[in-house]
Order: sequence, then C-alpha cells, then structure tokens
Amino acid sequence: MTDKTILAAPSLLSADFGHLAEEVISVNESGADWIHVDVMDGHFAANLSFGPKTVADIRHVTKLPLDCHLMVTNPQDHVASFAEAGADYFTFHIETVLHANRLIQQIKAAGMKPGVCVVPGTPVFVLDEILSELDLVLVLLVNPGFGGQKMIPSCLEKLVKLAAIRKERGCHYLLSVDGGITTENASLAIEKGADVIVAGSAFFAAPDKAAAVKKLKGL
Ligand code: DX5
Ligand code: ZN
Repeated sequence: MTDKTILAAPSLLSADFGHLAEEVISVNESGADWIHVDVMDGHFAANLSFGPKTVADIRHVTKLPLDCHLMVTNPQDHVASFAEAGADYFTFHIETVLHANRLIQQIKAAGMKPGVCVVPGTPVFVLDEILSELDLVLVLLVNPGFGGQKMIPSCLEKLVKLAAIRKERGCHYLLSVDGGITTENASLAIEKGADVIVAGSAFFAAPDKAAAVKKLKGL
C-alpha cells in the first residue's frame, strides 16, 4: 500500500486489434487512468504497430489521456500528426535523437506533454540536462518491441535515482514503468518510485479487468 496516487495505463499492444473499440471501452470501464499507445516503426523496435490514424480513431472512443510511446527513429517527424490526432503525452526515446531539447520544445508548442524513455541499456544520467523540462520519464523494463516479456529487475533502480533527482531539484515529471509488469510485481515498481504503471498482457489477459487495475495500482 502507498499514500500517493498511482495511475494505471493499460497498453493497447496486447489488445485484440480486430476489436479495438471494444478493447478501448473495456479500459474506460476498468477504472484505469490512461491508455498507453505503443508506436513502433520496425526500425528502432523490431515490430510494427499503430500510427496517428489509430490514435485519432481511439480519441473518439475514450476521454482518458492517450499516453503515446514512440519507439521510432526520427520521432520529430511525427509531432504534428500525433498532436492533431489528439495525443496527450508524446514520449520519445532518448536513443533516437540528437537534439532532445529542441524536440521537447516542439512537443510543448504542439500542445502535448513531453516524455522521454530509456531502454534497459541506457543509463539515466544521459537525461540530466533535460529532466527539468519533462512531464514524464518512462523507464522501459524490457527491450522494446513486444508485449509479454519478463521484466529486467535491475532497471527498477533507475526509478530510485530519478525520484531522488526529482526531489533534489524540484522537478515535476511523473515516473512511468513499462514492460513485464504483472499484478504480482507492480507493487515492487511502486515501492521503487513509479507513479504510472503500464501493463499490456497483465491487463488484457485478466478475467476481471477492474480487479487487475486495482492490483496494478497497489490497492
Ligand atoms: C514494449 C512496450 C510495452 C508493452 C508492454 O515494447 O513498450 O508497452 O506493451 O507489454 P507487457 O505489459 O505485456 O510487458
Ligand atoms: Zn510502451
């Protein structure tokens, strides 16, 4: 149990794409807080998933914030289309950009909240100069591309570091975790400092989605 509010963000990657509207409605009705949308281009991540058209269509089926996680090379090319589609958070991978500061300003100017993600092999110190500009830091707990993988537990230590820096500097970013989260291990991520719990398979495979959301939020 924890005093702070934890947000649950089911990841649509594990949804049945043939019934996407119904799947989004099941998220709406589950008590979840955000919808996590994994965008993959087959280059940065070895899989293909959604684009802005899907985001725009989902936007008509939910009022929940759309937490878009861009696992793509050249994320700067997609700021305008995701803003227009109704994305709330635009989270790019630090590994994909040379000019992170510029991209963050572009995301804000387009009316979205900027987030940055690190893969398991990227240390958090590379984010040092941009942390004060961010609304979200997403710590990926698996190598990107697919749902249903096992969490790499050592990645959770990044949350401890990022929570300490946030306190020390008075930053406001939320800490999100993604990959291999289950109803059993979510509490561990929360203990380490996570504010947002992304879960794909643990949500969509759950027989009782509302009960799964409660567990994911540490309740
Ligand atoms: C991994 C994606 C995740 C994925 C998580 O590349 O970023 O969002 O959907 O799926 P689970 O929760 O099944 O590990
Ligand atoms: Zn994701």
